[in-house]
Amino acid sequence: MRAPQIVLGFFLLLGHLGWAELVAQDVLVADFESDTYGTWKVTGEAFGPGPARGKLPGQMAVSGFQGERLVNSFFQGDDATGSLTSPEFTIDRKFLVFLLGGGKSSKLSLDLWIEGQMVRTATGANDQPGGSEELSQQFWDVSQWVGKKGILRILDDAKGSWGHINVDHILLTDTKPKEFLIDAERTFKATERYLHLPIKNGGPKRVVTLLVDGRRTVRNDIELADGEPDWWAPMDVSAWRGQTLTLRVDKLREDSTALARIEQSDAIKNIEDLYREPKRGLFHFSPKRGWNNDPNGCVYYNGEYHLFFQHNPYGWSWGNMHWGHAVSKDLVHWEEIGDVLLPDEMGPMFSGSAVVDSKNTSGFGKDGQAPLVLIYTAAGNPTVQGIAYSTDGRHFTKYSGNPVLGQVTGGNRDPKVIWDEATQRWVMVLYVEWQGKHTVHFFNSPNLKDWTLASIVNGDAPGSGFLYECPDFFPLPVGGQPERTKWVLLGANSEYAIGDFASGRFLVDATRLKGHRGKGFYAAQSFSDVPDSRRILIGWWQTETSGMPFNQSMSLPLELGLIQTDDGPRMTYAPIKELEKLRVRKHTLGELSLKQGDSNPLESIRSELLEIRTEIEPGDAKQIVMNLRDVMIEYDPIEQELSVAGQRASAPLRDGKLRLTIYLDRTGVEVFASDGLCYVPMPFQMNPENTKLFLEVRQGQAKILSLDVHELRSAWMAK
Ligand code: FRU
Repeated sequence: MRAPQIVLGFFLLLGHLGWAELVAQDVLVADFESDTYGTWKVTGEAFGPGPARGKLPGQMAVSGFQGERLVNSFFQGDDATGSLTSPEFTIDRKFLVFLLGGGKSSKLSLDLWIEGQMVRTATGANDQPGGSEELSQQFWDVSQWVGKKGILRILDDAKGSWGHINVDHILLTDTKPKEFLIDAERTFKATERYLHLPIKNGGPKRVVTLLVDGRRTVRNDIELADGEPDWWAPMDVSAWRGQTLTLRVDKLREDSTALARIEQSDAIKNIEDLYREPKRGLFHFSPKRGWNNDPNGCVYYNGEYHLFFQHNPYGWSWGNMHWGHAVSKDLVHWEEIGDVLLPDEMGPMFSGSAVVDSKNTSGFGKDGQAPLVLIYTAAGNPTVQGIAYSTDGRHFTKYSGNPVLGQVTGGNRDPKVIWDEATQRWVMVLYVEWQGKHTVHFFNSPNLKDWTLASIVNGDAPGSGFLYECPDFFPLPVGGQPERTKWVLLGANSEYAIGDFASGRFLVDATRLKGHRGKGFYAAQSFSDVPDSRRILIGWWQTETSGMPFNQSMSLPLELGLIQTDDGPRMTYAPIKELEKLRVRKHTLGELSLKQGDSNPLESIRSELLEIRTEIEPGDAKQIVMNLRDVMIEYDPIEQELSVAGQRASAPLRDGKLRLTIYLDRTGVEVFASDGLCYVPMPFQMNPENTKLFLEVRQGQAKILSLDVHELRSAWMAK
C-alpha cells in the first residue's frame, strides 16, 4: 500500500524541482531526544546519565538546540570530564551539519574519525568569562569520504571556566548550509565620537573585538542585528580619534548586514528622544543606552557626586560589564559622561567602590590634588581585585600593579573600601563565598595597594540571602547622636547586621535584620566622603523597560539613619531633601476628616510624577486606601500593615499616627512609612493614559492631619 504513494510523491517532487535539483533526503545521525545516549558509548561523568533538557543546575540559560534535549557536558559542573562516542555510520551525503556550543578549547571538541584517523574537529566559541550558552550551526564538507564509515566523538577533557561542550542535531545532507563568515571585519578611520552598532535583543551573541591600529583593545559579546535592529548601541571611540579601528566579529551569517550598517557620528542615535522616551523614569537615574545593574563607586569628589554603575553598553540585558559614569551636583540631576572601566585581560569589570585618598596614601595624587581611587573586581579566571585612579574625576588609569588582591576563592567580589579614622588605615569589606558560606572578609591596607586579611563575618549558606554579594559597611549615629554611633554591615538584599567596630573588628549585636520591604531593590551602596556626613544610599532598581533602548535604573538616593526601637537600634530610610527641587506645584489638602463614602480629596489633581506627604490619625477606620495611577497603597491600622501594589510590609503606627511619604515615577513607586523604618520600593509600569489619584477610607473615619501633594518635573530637563 505504501509504494504507490512514494512513487507518486517522487514524481510530484520531480515536477516541482526538475531533475537537476533532485537531492537525497537528509539523514539524521543523532538528535539526542531520549533519556539515554542509546548506542553512543559514554565515559566519565561530564555527560550525565543522558541528554539534558536545556540548562543544568548552575548554568546560564542554554539556547539554540533543537527539540527538548541536547548533549550538555555541564553535568556536575565545569570540572567533570568524559566522552561520548557514536556507533559507526556511513557517510552518504556531502555535508555533516551540527549544532555546537560551550567552551573553546582543543580539549572540548566534536571530532570525526575515519579509519582510525581524526579528520575533522570543531569546538565552541567561549574562552572568556561571560559569553553565551547559545549553540550555533557548524558544518563540514565530507564529500571526499562519501561511502566510507565514520565515528563521531564528543570530548570534554577541560576543567574550570567554560569547561563544557554542548552538541545537538547532527545531520548528513547534500544541501550546503548557509555559510558563516568567520572573523568578519570592517575597518574605519575614527573621525567621530561613536560607532553605532545595530542590536537585536535576544539575538545570537557574537564576539566583537575592537582593534586599534591592529592592536586588540576590548572584546564584547553583542547581540548584533543581522537585519533591522531594535536599537543602536553607541561605542565610544573618541579615545582613538584619527586612528584605524577594526571591528572583528567571530562569526556572522553571510547575509548579515550588521557590519555594513555601522555608522559613525558625534551624537547617539535618536538623541532628540533622549530622556523623553515613553518608559524613561524621569527622576530616577538610568543609562542613556543599554543595561545597568549595581551602583558602583558612589563618592563625592571635588564638588561633585559620582555615580558609577554596572553597565552593559551593548545589550538590553546583563553582560559585558563596564563601569558607566554619571556626575551630579545634587544627587538629583545626573549627567552621564561615558564608561570609565572597560573589560580587560583580567575580565569584565564587576562591582566595587570609590574613595577620596585625601592623605595621598596611594601616591596617585598630583600637584597636591587628592586622587579619586576606584576599587573593583576583575571577574576573570582568577577573579581578583584591582584599582584605578584619577585626579580630575574624568580620566581614570588602571594601576599597573593590579591586581591588588588575588583570588581568595572563585566567588569573591564587590570590594567596598572605607577609611577608618580610628586606626588610620583603609578597610575593605569583600564578599567571599568561603567554606560553604556567604562571608564578608575584612582586609586592611595602609595605601590601597597592599591588603591583609583581618577578620571574617559569616552570613547564610549559599542559596539564601544574608551577606550575599555587594557588602557595605558604615557608621550611623543612633537617633542622630554621634556619641551613640553603631556600625552597619549591609548585604546586597539589604538585610543587615548592627554592631561595633573596634580595633579593626566588627562585633555583632544583632544580625539578619530586614532592610527594605519592597521588590526589585538590590545591591545598594552608600556614598563615600559626603561633605555633611549624611549616609546616603542608592540601590539598583529593577525597573524593566521593554521596547526601550535602555533597561533598569537606580532608586532614589536615600538618607539612612538609626533609631532606637523596642528591639534595639534599627535602620531608617528617607528620600534626600534635595529631591524637593523637583517640586513644581503644591496642593495642600489637610486637615480634614475622611469617612467611607466621602468624596475623593484628590479628585481634581492630575499628575504624572508625584510626591505625596501625609500624616493620618486612623481613628476607627478599617482601611485607608490610595489609588495612584493604578498603584494601590492600602493601610490596615489594626494589623499596622501597609500594602503597596500587593506587596505587604509591617508599618507600625508611630505616636498613633501613620506618616507616609510617596514618590511616584513612570517606572514605579517608593513608599516610606513609620518614620523610615518601612521603605517599600516597587517597580511598576504606569499606564501613561491614567493620571488619576484617589484617596478613601473604608469603614469608620480617619483624620487626615496633613496631606500635601507635589507635582514633580523631570530631573533630566533644565535644572
Ligand atoms: C550583584 C552582582 C555583583 C557583581 C555584579 C556583576 O548584582 O552579581 O555581585 O559584582 O552584579 O554585574
